[in-house]
Amino acid sequence: MTYENETRRRRTFAIISHPDAGKTTLTEKLLLFSGAIQIAGAVKGRKASRHATSDWMEIEKQRGISVASSVMQMSYRDHVINLLDTPGHKDFSEDTYRVLTAVDSALMVIDAANGVESQTRRLIEVCRQRDTPIITFVNKMDREVRDPLDILDEVERELKMPCCPITWPVGQGKGFGGIINLQTQSMTVFQPGSDKRPQDFEVIPLAESDRLRARFGQAFDDALEAMELAQGASAEWDHEAFLAGKLTPVFFGSGVNNFGVMEVLDAVVDMSPPPGDRTSRLIGRNGEVTETTIHPADKAFSGVVFKVQANMDANHRDRIAFVRVASGKYTPGMKLKVQRSGKELRPTSVVTFMSQRREAVEEAYAGDIIGFTTHGGVQLGDTITDGANLQFTGLPFFAPEMFATVVLKNPLRTKQLQQGLMQLGEEGAIQVFKPDAGGNMLLGAVGQLQFEVVQHRLKTEYDAEVRLEPSQYTSARWISAETPDELKKFEAAYPLRMAHDAANALAYMCTSPYDVRLAQERFPKIIFHPLREHA
Ligand code: G4P
Repeated sequence: MTYENETRRRRTFAIISHPDAGKTTLTEKLLLFSGAIQIAGAVKGRKASRHATSDWMEIEKQRGISVASSVMQMSYRDHVINLLDTPGHKDFSEDTYRVLTAVDSALMVIDAANGVESQTRRLIEVCRQRDTPIITFVNKMDREVRDPLDILDEVERELKMPCCPITWPVGQGKGFGGIINLQTQSMTVFQPGSDKRPQDFEVIPLAESDRLRARFGQAFDDALEAMELAQGASAEWDHEAFLAGKLTPVFFGSGVNNFGVMEVLDAVVDMSPPPGDRTSRLIGRNGEVTETTIHPADKAFSGVVFKVQANMDANHRDRIAFVRVASGKYTPGMKLKVQRSGKELRPTSVVTFMSQRREAVEEAYAGDIIGFTTHGGVQLGDTITDGANLQFTGLPFFAPEMFATVVLKNPLRTKQLQQGLMQLGEEGAIQVFKPDAGGNMLLGAVGQLQFEVVQHRLKTEYDAEVRLEPSQYTSARWISAETPDELKKFEAAYPLRMAHDAANALAYMCTSPYDVRLAQERFPKIIFHPLREHA
């Protein structure tokens, strides 16, 4: 098969939801129906992550499982589907944003009783910024839930884009009769139970309306009426609009009952886009930089590290760099280069993620996710190529909203602390700032839990026990200027506020929201960035 054909048959998507909406259940059913797993229950280990709200230690214990199942590959209808999970807890939202840079579409799971919830809202924002196409699955129709018209209305408002229902529910809760498929003009009859296969459900054409009416009574007529209302009020199916992130197809079902799931799996294949072009900086021989477009079927291999995760084994400082292939083909033994350092990448193993297990990669194409196990030398945002001088952009780092000062309990462990902080910073577990004026290192986080995880990992993995003390800083801005001269003047004006992060980017530390405004007034030519893209 040509590169073109290989990339065209790939679908890489992230599954997003508020905790408890049914993401794990749906993931499991998608794996089951594609044949990637044989029995339900295999993904249940991931449930530990749900308890993250109070017991983050559990996350640590389950880290092995989450590494193995945060990326899952399956094949279905001659397509290769890469499903990426997103962390459930809001304190790890930065991770989620980065995962969203590695996908071509998203599947949003909504609990039909709760509608669009807070955490989904944040994820939607990121998808919208990137115009990522979103498929919507309204789950738990077997429960007493909200009126589907109401849900549709809310999705439209939250997503700020029209909905296009593809399936429509007949009844709900105890009276849930099934779903009408608007495309095939037929009704699939609901039967509870988690042992049903998609082909086991009875399908009745809408043309046989008398039969449907006799069986489902008023619920059927109500559904038809609501469906007509919804169709009148919502957009017609427009594939181009969906691909542009301007319309979302909506499916109804019940994940736990295997119901309405096959329709979603088919939609991933039929509607979601294959890997697209990516923008990259091309670095010339003399260091000159031009923007270029990388096509997925280009011969040269390229990929970007969107996630780095420490391995499970604390005795080995192995880390897995998750790389989204952007172009070309990966084959074992290939010589690869880390663009940032110019060094050759020498992984101890290269794996692909097959639902619950990892396998040595035989080949990988654009859209695929491969994991390089290394002892270091790879950072979040790194571009890996087979030689070309490329640097992908767009991996976001957000200005932290909370800070802590790191105080080492045993000063003899300084080296270990530095190594630990550097590695955890490179992993993106936390942001590390080294004050230019010297003194203790600063940690910056988006969520409180990140501090606890880092403190624990410093102790268990690096034998460096630390105390985290409150810091005066409340925010940070990355700094740039039109000329080096202006930057120098700025640095000289605020020597105690300057710090460098793990990627050696210069930041201005703030103690109040007015800081930036005042500094900006004094130095109008300085640019304060709330977000840093890996450069
Ligand atoms: P998450 O990954 O989004 O956090 O959600 P998860 O799939 O773990 O589902 C959360 C709960 O909702 C689970 O119940 C799950 O069984 C249930 N659930 C998922 N889909 C449906 C559905 O279509 N209908 C109904 N009624 N429930 C659904 P739990 O009690 O927390 O766990 P369990 O003991 O059932 O495994």
